[in-house]
This record gives sequence, structure tokens and C-alpha cells, in this order.
Amino acid sequence: MTTPAIAAGEAVYDRVARALHWLVAALAVIVISLGWAIAGAPRNTPTRDLLLVMHRSVGVTILAVMLFRAVWRWRHPPPPLPPAVTGLERVLAGCTHVALYLLLIAMPLAGYVNAAAAGHAVSVFGIVSIPPILAENNLLSQAAIAIHLVAQYLLYPLVVLHIAGALRRGFVKHDGVLDRMLPVRQRPS
Ligand code: HEM
Ligand code: HEM
Repeated sequence: MTTPAIAAGEAVYDRVARALHWLVAALAVIVISLGWAIAGAPRNTPTRDLLLVMHRSVGVTILAVMLFRAVWRWRHPPPPLPPAVTGLERVLAGCTHVALYLLLIAMPLAGYVNAAAAGHAVSVFGIVSIPPILAENNLLSQAAIAIHLVAQYLLYPLVVLHIAGALRRGFVKHDGVLDRMLPVRQRPS
């Protein structure tokens, strides 16, 4: 069923913004699963090496998509929220979105710095190799991976908060906020 807000023709995120949202959401699930799998794989085994390449490749892809997405958002600002959303909810949602953008850029960057400062190139699916553009620096490399590993504990609660907030708007408030990001929209009848 189409919600009243959407049926009334209220603005939604454009197709590109919606496609990028769900692409990154799917890639985030994959990169985190691969990250956990790395942690469980014995060191110096082909399995761990493959997991690392896949994790890094998906992570670099997220970085590229997020940078494009940030520029897209700047050129195509999101539609205004419906009046039913209170001031506090707006601030909370805004801060969560900004923090997700920052983490999904900072985490892969920290991953790259970890490799680059150790003098390693980063292979993206074995197709492209990103050379290290930093001087070798063991301390920087260690600091970068520490940041990478700690940042996940900011990401998880934010994603949970974000999804809970989105589902609350869709299934409790019925105010059209969830509908404006759904990948496929029903046409108002
Ligand atoms: C948004 C992108 C990324 C996310 C969310 C992410 C998340 C994670 C997570 C959850 C782990 C497992 C942590 C643990 O064992 O507790 C991990 C491990 C790792 N990540 Fe990422 N990652 C991303 C991108 C990257 C990139 C682009 C690189 C490198 C170019 C990278 C390099 C690594 C490495 C080397 C490890 C293994 C660390 C170790 O166990 O010693 N990550 N990552
Ligand atoms: C079931 C899963 C998810 C649902 C139902 C969902 C729903 C939504 C909705 C409805 C919005 C628009 C909110 C508004 O209009 O103010 C939104 C925006 C956003 N979501 Fe999600 N989301 C999900 C998963 C994720 C995941 C996994 C991530 C990141 C890892 C994410 C990151 C974002 C970001 C960064 C925005 C802000 C978009 C912008 O304004 O440019 N979402 N999401």
C-alpha cells in the first residue's frame, strides 16, 4: 500500500541516490562479513590471503562509491523531511547520516594507509593495483590499522540505530520517510 505522504506526490530521493544507498548497504554487509572471516582465518594461508584481497577490494569500492555519493548529494540535495519529524529526530538522523558517511570514507582510507605505509600496493579484484603513495612508516601503518579496527565499533551501533530509526518511521509512524529511500516505488494510483 502506498503511504499518504508518497501518494500525495511528496519528493523522494532520486534514483541515483537510492541506488547508491542500497549498493553501499549491500557492500557494507559483505565487507564486514569478509573482515570477520579474515579474523577467523589462520595466518599465512591462501584462504586468508584471498579473504584479504576480497575485503580490501570491496572496501576500496565502497570508498570510491562513497566519494561519488558525497558529490552527488552535494549536487542533488535530499528532499525536505515531512513536518511530522520533530527537531530532535531531524538532528539525530542528520548526525547519524553524517557519521555513516565519515566512517565509510575513513575506514577504507585507514585500511589503505595501513597497507601503503607498510610499502604494499592494494589490489582491487586483481584488476587494478593502487600503489603506495606514502613513504614507508611502520608506526603510521600500525596506527592506521588500529583506527580501522576500533572504528568498526562505532559503525555497528550507528547502523543499528539507523535501521531501527528507518523501520520506526515506516512501520510505526507511517510518515513516508522510509518510502523515500525504497529501491522500487509503487506508483500512486
Ligand atoms: C568501509 C570499508 C571497510 C570496512 C567497514 C572494514 C571493516 C573491517 C572489519 C570489521 C574487519 C575485522 C576486524 C576484526 O578482526 O575485528 C577488518 C579487517 C581488516 N581490514 Fe577492513 N574494512 C573496510 C575496508 C578496508 C580496506 C579498503 C582495507 C585495505 C585496503 C582494509 C584492510 C583490512 C585489514 C588488513 C584487516 C585485517 C586486520 C587484522 O586482522 O590484522 N579494510 N575490516
Ligand atoms: C534495512 C536497512 C536500511 C534501511 C531500511 C534504510 C533506510 C534509510 C532511509 C529511509 C533513509 C532516508 C532517511 C531520510 O530520508 O532522512 C536512509 C538514508 C541513509 N542511509 Fe540507510 N537504510 C538501511 C541500511 C543502511 C546501511 C547498512 C547504511 C550504511 C552502512 C545506510 C546508510 C545511510 C545513509 C548514509 C543515509 C543518508 C543518505 C543521504 O541523505 O545522502 N543505510 N536509509
